[in-house]
Amino acid sequence: MTELRASDLVHVYPAAGVRALDGIDLLIEAGETVALIGQNGSGKTTLARHLNGLLRPSSGRVLVDGRDAAELTVAQLAAQVGLVFQDPDRQVFAGSVLAEVEFGPRNLGRSGDELRGAVRESLAACGLEGEERTNPYDLGQSRRKLLALASVLAMRTPVVVLDEPTTGQDPRGVERVRAAIADIASKGRTVLAISHDMRFVAETFSRVIVLRSGRIILDGSPSEVFGAAAWDALRSTYLEPPLSARIGDRLGQGSTPTDASLIARLSGDEAQEQKA
Ligand SMILES: Nc1ncnc2c1ncn2[C@@H]1O[C@H](COP(=O)(O)OP(=O)(O)OP(=O)(O)O)[C@@H](O)[C@H]1O
Ligand SMILES: [Mg+2]
Repeated sequence: MTELRASDLVHVYPAAGVRALDGIDLLIEAGETVALIGQNGSGKTTLARHLNGLLRPSSGRVLVDGRDAAELTVAQLAAQVGLVFQDPDRQVFAGSVLAEVEFGPRNLGRSGDELRGAVRESLAACGLEGEERTNPYDLGQSRRKLLALASVLAMRTPVVVLDEPTTGQDPRGVERVRAAIADIASKGRTVLAISHDMRFVAETFSRVIVLRSGRIILDGSPSEVFGAAAWDALRSTYLEPPLSARIGDRLGQGSTPTDASLIARLSGDEAQEQKA
């Protein structure tokens, strides 16, 4: 299984002169589920693209399983780190759902039953079974995004990086993404997902990293990052803790209460009030 490390990673987009990553130090151990959050333009996508070699550091290093990513080819990195793009239209290119999902694992040398099994499993995880012959452009944007996820899942890489996987998804789509993440994690693989959905983040990941202007400003468990002590830092990058964190804090239930515990507490309070 694969550990990811960034050390003093800097990325400057030369044309724009933008310092999108400004000294990132980070260790993600194999099997972690990590959410990466931060306002628009804080550098999340730029960081994700370094992890699979689509971008190369202006300075500093990225290490994949202890090996400097600069010494690995894009193909070697692709076998370790699967990246699902923010915009599926930049990723999906094949003429059918089946061809799209087969492309990655075929490139990694999979064939026969192994290939068929990986394809079937990832299509089912994304609710796309039966759509093998459909042209991706007939799926609609939200299911095309799930197709992009399926095509990366099918590669069964030790690390999966998801750039805003729930954007544009209805609750069922969000549930599929959540289940896919849980499934990857249950196999000891690593997930790093970028998200703007704080509730999804609080409920799905074991660790949350907050970026502001290309730097990490918070890194901890959801209860630490969404706890009252971190609210000022969160707001400095225009993020609001999830509503449940604010209610949980008021009720003394911590910053990551479950819906069930909040409801139980509130109904308990109502019962008390009725008695009084
Ligand atoms: N290809 C590019 N050329 C020049 N500048 C870029 C490019 N891509 C991103 N940037 C700039 O780099 C900074 C970080 O952008 P990035 O896309 O990594 O942010 P992000 O956190 O993913 O934002 P969003 O939430 O909007 O997706 C921003 O200032 C952005 O304008
Ligand atoms: Mg982005």
